[in-house]
Amino acid sequence: MKVLVIGGGGREHAIVKKLKENKSIAELYCLPGNGGIARDALCVPISATDLDGIVSFAMEHRIDFAVVAPDDPLALGAVDRLEAIGVDCFGPRKNAAIIESSKVFAKDLMKRYGIPTARYEVFESKEPALCYLRSAPMPAVIKADGLALGKGVIIAKTQQEAEDAVNTMMTEKRFGKSGERIVIEEYLEGPEVSVLTFTDGKTVVPMVSSMDHKRAGEGDTGPNTGGMGAVAPNPYYNPAVAKRCMETIFLPTIRAMEQEGRPFKGCLYFGLMLTKDGPKVIEYNCRFGDPETQVVLPLLKSDLFTIMRAVSEERLADCPVVFSQDSAVCVIMASKGYPGAYEKGYPISIPADLSAEVFIAGAKEKDGSLVTAGGRVLGVTALEKSLPEALERAYDAVKQLRFENAYYRRDIGALALAAKED
Ligand code: AMP
Ligand code: GLY
Repeated sequence: MKVLVIGGGGREHAIVKKLKENKSIAELYCLPGNGGIARDALCVPISATDLDGIVSFAMEHRIDFAVVAPDDPLALGAVDRLEAIGVDCFGPRKNAAIIESSKVFAKDLMKRYGIPTARYEVFESKEPALCYLRSAPMPAVIKADGLALGKGVIIAKTQQEAEDAVNTMMTEKRFGKSGERIVIEEYLEGPEVSVLTFTDGKTVVPMVSSMDHKRAGEGDTGPNTGGMGAVAPNPYYNPAVAKRCMETIFLPTIRAMEQEGRPFKGCLYFGLMLTKDGPKVIEYNCRFGDPETQVVLPLLKSDLFTIMRAVSEERLADCPVVFSQDSAVCVIMASKGYPGAYEKGYPISIPADLSAEVFIAGAKEKDGSLVTAGGRVLGVTALEKSLPEALERAYDAVKQLRFENAYYRRDIGALALAAKED
């Protein structure tokens, strides 16, 4: 089989490494991949959003199966285009990817089908939004409708901050077209849980739960990032919560999408908040999360490619999906300054005998060695029987990895550890 993975970050490296375990894959490509992924797959410099380039490549190389990992190509219809030339895919079509690419679509879907989420209003122009805010409770959450690189959500503590957020999106148009419509929603409180699921449009199989660490600074301070680390499982997500999520959120969402004529096939990511009134949906993503994938897939005992094909062929109900009971921790090593400006081009040294797995995100090959090339550079993942042991092993490995101006949070997993002690 010839398999193609689209994307080029730490998440795609985790997917590539897991796919490599399947010996029926004779050729594994990654577009564009990166200098680290190139050690595990054939990387070709075609951008993940260059759909014409991807389709020509797939035809020329007679690709059998494609995994479309990032949100942008999914929203642009990469799966539709590849299916049209006979390539089986893992990932939703454009009409289902809208569950992430339009927050208004997602919120309206949840309202129509009674799926628990924060109360909200949608605005298409500035004046009514500002008028609404004058009597809205604070904090309020202001979200750009479209994709905004994870930056389109502003939590406003005061009226002034809320008005500024609306102006940022609708007057300054910081997020371009993505901010032409906005959602203003109720602020929810409680522990957050990420649950990635496999679904073929009818059956939904949750993966092990996880916890992201989105803020740049320790103690969850500083700006939002693409994610500075993750742990799995998430201690807040106990069997009773899992059952309730399946009954009130996961199955109703899959059925709603089917009923809307938008069956969802691929990985549907549920960003949940466990409020005192029960679990509620904060966001849907139409893809694997980053860095959650770097803790979830290493715990998968079943063969990933077998599951992905079962999803594509709509026979997930007959496909075993088994996860290890161990704990996993991923610590992201980033370039100092991220998510703001940072310097690139520093050599990365990775000891050969490192006792952790390294997923490479922002690096490229230069004169035979790896140099930094992005904000998030490495994801260092360790698996152990318990969370404290996994944390110790991950941080031991982090200390052995070197590049100039490396920055990482030292408190990944602290919240999960505290939850366990409650
Ligand atoms: P998102 O970009 O949708 O992942 O949102 C970023 C973060 O904003 C989430 O991980 C939550 O921590 C927070 N957030 C989003 N919506 C709400 C809400 N309604 N109430 C409280 N926090 C929220
Ligand atoms: N970790 C959150 C995301 O992938 O959007």
